[in-house]
Amino acid sequence: MNLTFSLIKPGAMQHCEEILMAIKAEGFSIIAMKTQHLTFSQVEIFYKEHRDKSFFHEMCEGLTQGPVLLVVIHEKKGIETPLRFRTLLGATNPKEALPGTLRARFGVDINSNAVHGSDSKISAIRELSFFFSGIEIGFDITDY
Ligand code: CMP
Repeated sequence: MNLTFSLIKPGAMQHCEEILMAIKAEGFSIIAMKTQHLTFSQVEIFYKEHRDKSFFHEMCEGLTQGPVLLVVIHEKKGIETPLRFRTLLGATNPKEALPGTLRARFGVDINSNAVHGSDSKISAIRELSFFFSGIEIGFDITDY
């Protein structure tokens, strides 16, 4: 899988340019992106796997505080792009993330952890097609 999905969270939008530069510096390319102010119910659907977790409500509130940047990440010769991109993100909790990772650099706490990235090929396909159409991505997601 040489595509993955990323979302820059409201708390990190002021660092958008730096985050995008860091992503490109790691050899990823950005083939589509758009800014959107998500509604509570869009976030609830997007993160439905977490709906029974204690942090779910707080997480949905954080993600609806302001606009987010939705990003399609691509690697020409990538085979494990979701995994490699997650390495650049660092641990979910910025306090546990390795120095230099995006969450260590731009995250505030576990809820406001700067950037989301799909955790597998299956998630990437679901998350990309949740926010982007084939014509925006430039790929037919059903080929993956
Ligand atoms: P993300 O990778 O976007 O996926 C789900 C989000 O839930 C996660 O990043 C965190 O920002 C948020 N979250 C808040 N509390 C927790 C927690 N205790 N464990 C995991 N994720 C959490």
